[in-house]
Amino acid sequence: MNITHAKSTSPIIEISRLTKGFGTGRRKNQAVDNLSITIARGEVFGFLGPNGAGKSTTIKLLLGFLKPDSGSLGILGKIVGQDEFRQRIGYLSEFPFFYDHLTARETLRLSGRLSGMSKQAINQRIPMLLERMNLLNAADRRVGGFSKGMKQRLGMANALVHDPEVLIFDEPMSGLDPVGRHQIKKLIIELKQDGKTIFFSSHILSDIEALCDRIGIINKGVLLYSGGLEEFLAAGVGLEERFVSLIEEGNRASVA
Ligand SMILES: Nc1ncnc2c1ncn2[C@@H]1O[C@H](COP(=O)(O)OP(=O)(O)OP(=O)(O)O)[C@@H](O)[C@H]1O
Ligand SMILES: [Mg+2]
Repeated sequence: MNITHAKSTSPIIEISRLTKGFGTGRRKNQAVDNLSITIARGEVFGFLGPNGAGKSTTIKLLLGFLKPDSGSLGILGKIVGQDEFRQRIGYLSEFPFFYDHLTARETLRLSGRLSGMSKQAINQRIPMLLERMNLLNAADRRVGGFSKGMKQRLGMANALVHDPEVLIFDEPMSGLDPVGRHQIKKLIIELKQDGKTIFFSSHILSDIEALCDRIGIINKGVLLYSGGLEEFLAAGVGLEERFVSLIEEGNRASVA
């Protein structure tokens, strides 16, 4: 067997029969229900679903911030919850947290240090990241005074500081103006060109359409579709129409 070949084709992200509920008894809310997704190296995978569908919960499970009730999760061949893998992953939370009294530069420096980077590597990388995120002129301002969009862009820089192979973004375009959105889209395309594997959630269907190789659609914790974007759109109706009718079908099925 050609081991190198086998390794390069093995999935980068592997979610298998994942289930997670909150609460107990009759009040139990199944946030993720028997969900399986596989993502290959170099893919951009868009995770879609209405509010409360289970996107952020899936992402938190994937990062090991929450424990699943059942199922398994793997990233880069490591088992989430057992192995250490975070240093090879960049994560942007749905609600990025920052220390208000630190400047943007200090924030990135702190993340770099926490990721185990050398001071020299950090100092080389930070100006490039600040520039890429259009934050160079705010580099030495305290983050407490940043607008939502600026915080979002700083969150992206934070996710990229240690140059990870796998990127997981929970709604990276949220709160951004059209210029900011355009910059993030451009960045995702560049990251893909660099060979990164990207898993991101979004509500903005046009962005998903512009960026993704494959998509997953989740509703009430259940994966309704997982596959190529082109196949999904093959019926000739637009993404929005197809997405809405799939969610409506899913809702009818869950009531029946
Ligand atoms: N910590 C928690 N405790 C209790 N319930 C939770 C918790 N986190 C999520 N849930 C519930 O799990 C379900 C899925 O939530 P989740 O945040 O994963 O949705 P989402 O798809 O990310 O939605 P949005 O698009 O609004 O961000 C929701 O019903 C939510 O109320
Ligand atoms: Mg969410």
